[in-house]
Amino acid sequence: MPAYAFFQGKTVPLEEAKISVVTHAFNYGTGVFEGIRGNWNEAEGQMYLFRVEEHYERLLRSCRMLNITIPYSAAEMTRMTVELVEKCGYQQDIYVRPLAYKASEVVGLRVHDLKDDFLIYVVPFGNYLASDEGIRCCISSWTRIDDTMMPPSAKICGLYVNGSLAKSEAVWRGYDEAIMLNRDGFISEGSGENVFLVERGQLVTPATTENILEGITRATVMELAEKELGIKTVERRVSRSELFVTEELFLTGTAAHVTPVLDVDGRRIGDGKIGPVTAKLMKLYFEMVKGVDKRYSHWLTPTYRKVARRP
Ligand SMILES: Cc1ncc(COP(=O)(O)O)c(C=O)c1O
Repeated sequence: MPAYAFFQGKTVPLEEAKISVVTHAFNYGTGVFEGIRGNWNEAEGQMYLFRVEEHYERLLRSCRMLNITIPYSAAEMTRMTVELVEKCGYQQDIYVRPLAYKASEVVGLRVHDLKDDFLIYVVPFGNYLASDEGIRCCISSWTRIDDTMMPPSAKICGLYVNGSLAKSEAVWRGYDEAIMLNRDGFISEGSGENVFLVERGQLVTPATTENILEGITRATVMELAEKELGIKTVERRVSRSELFVTEELFLTGTAAHVTPVLDVDGRRIGDGKIGPVTAKLMKLYFEMVKGVDKRYSHWLTPTYRKVARRP
């Protein structure tokens, strides 16, 4: 299957989308990105992009934080993405990676007076975490970056060193994923996921003041829980010890979907099985993103004009 990218203003085969080693973003992490899921609906032969325009709105906010200017609106980038995904023609779940970056080939630290550029590529992408079975997490020894260091509410390339160190530490210690504390010692988020607890019939999640990325899946789950299950979410500070007594625990993210956490630092969560609220949210979420449940089709962008059905 030929892969394509939008690169330097045009669509090119993915292998031709190359930057110089001197590129500022490559040397200093001065880029911002998004991760957008395309969910393949086999029965319909259709690829549905999930809340794609909202991802581009978040990208534009990240761009402002890094003084990156790109000449496209969220609606235009959505259209460009649909065209690119259609050209790639994958018939499986995909991940779309838009990236806006400091493209000048120059040595020296700054974010002003540099040339900006924008690219999009698409890759096939299955499960990121074992969301069907549930995972084991540890509390990371790495602290989540604080807003006084770099804005954690933006998806800045360089910021992801923080999450990468936490994730690998977790894997090296025999866990699947890391949960990071913020500088004040409260729960922040996973390396690339938001955290939810189920407590006495409510969802609890760290507030936006806790150095989290305000996840689109987080917002989705909060809305689904309220509308479909009548469950409200409390956004507040969450202390580490609450994880050990919570009834249920799960992570949310574009890559991770809704992933149950069954164990933290070797302590079993609840009865060590996927809890009933998590299970209901997982089902609602999967049927909605795949376009099986049509009640939320306003969040879905179909990409194939000519539906692709396997013979
Ligand atoms: C650090 C971090 N937190 C949380 C999330 C979840 O956000 P979303 O649901 O928008 O993918 C992501 C993924 O983008 C992330 O990178």
